[in-house]
Amino acid sequence: MAHDGSNGTKLYTDLTQGKRHRCNECHSDNVLNAPGKDGLPALSQAIHGFHSSRMGMSKLANQCYNCHPGEVTKCNRGVMAANGITCADSKCHGSMENVSQTILNGRRPWLDEPDCGACHGADYAVNIGMLYRSSYLVNGPDDMNGEIKCISCHNSAHSEWPSTLPLDNVIPVQLYGRPDFIRKCSACHEGTGKLHGAGR
Ligand code: HEC
Ligand code: HEC
Ligand code: HEC
Ligand code: HEC
Ligand code: HEC
Repeated sequence: MAHDGSNGTKLYTDLTQGKRHRCNECHSDNVLNAPGKDGLPALSQAIHGFHSSRMGMSKLANQCYNCHPGEVTKCNRGVMAANGITCADSKCHGSMENVSQTILNGRRPWLDEPDCGACHGADYAVNIGMLYRSSYLVNGPDDMNGEIKCISCHNSAHSEWPSTLPLDNVIPVQLYGRPDFIRKCSACHEGTGKLHGAGR
């Protein structure tokens, strides 16, 4: 009803008549390959931009947890979170306003996301034009390149090893007896030496 009041739609009337609209009929949404309607803001741009000035209504310290999981789930719980880095860090997603404004400036929601290399440097960057979750080690010993995903050794984004949630750390604990990322060659085969930057 609030949406209809300010945007001239009739989502609520239609709902009472049995037609429930998907937001992405009108607002584009790359994660579901929905093109939306020309001239309307992408769903991510609309939702973050519109609510950015309304976050004062919430008491949560992490504003993002008003909609993303959450105070209990603790979506952001990896080694960066353990070191005090928040979702809103300028080298990560930035503020609500920033998530929206960057889309207006050309960022493709869901496809262009923060890069580990922004803080850790070029040897530790994700693959060009790829998300972290799809990227592979490409600067290691030759025959390893393109074979092993970043997440195999560092775990998923937001729960990067060593994670603050013990359940996330089961694999490294089984391997090493303590929470860590996969840092020893012996986790997979014999050998010693460097991984990142070794192949240059
Ligand atoms: C039938 C098309 C349609 C559907 C479906 C639709 N919207 Fe909208 N939405 C619009 C239009 C039109 C605007 C006004 C855009 C503008 O002013 O540029 C708008 C604006 C918005 C805004 C305000 C953006 C701003 O910055 O002022 C938000 C937030 C929003 N929509 C969220 C949603 C959500 C969430 C859903 C799903 C529950 C949804 N919309 C479904 C057409 C739609
Ligand atoms: C008012 C609810 C709301 C809040 C608060 C919110 N989000 Fe979102 N966010 C959404 C919704 C809804 C989507 C899904 C949009 C889509 O499907 O395209 C989303 C998607 C995203 C995405 C993926 C799309 C993109 O733009 O790349 C990112 C990143 C994101 N949010 C970051 C944040 C961050 C960082 C914060 C806190 C600063 C935050 N969100 C707070 C509702 C919210
Ligand atoms: C906003 C800056 C920032 C971003 C972006 C970032 N990190 Fe970090 N990261 C840090 C800081 C600060 C630490 C703690 C200090 C340190 O160990 O370097 C850290 C620690 C780590 C460690 C532990 C290093 C060690 O030797 O114990 C790993 C592994 C790591 N990050 C991986 C990642 C991965 C993978 C990504 C991308 C998904 C990423 N980081 C993105 C800032 C960042
Ligand atoms: C085969 C395991 C393995 C894979 C795959 C892997 N890494 Fe690493 N990563 C390591 C090891 C070991 C270190 C610590 C030694 C070093 O700094 O080179 C490390 C360190 C890091 C750090 C922390 C650097 C710091 O400042 O302390 C980041 C960030 C990182 N890797 C990102 C990535 C990204 C991004 C990818 C994929 C493009 C990736 N890693 C793939 C094993 C791996
Ligand atoms: C997560 C598992 C994993 C870890 C950890 C790992 N490797 Fe590998 N490594 C592989 C895989 C998989 C291959 C590719 C084997 C193939 O192509 O047959 C490989 C291949 C190699 C090769 C080429 C071997 C050959 O016979 O051609 C070298 C050299 C190598 N790794 C060095 C290292 C070093 C040094 C470390 C530790 C710093 C390390 N690896 C850690 C999985 C790993």
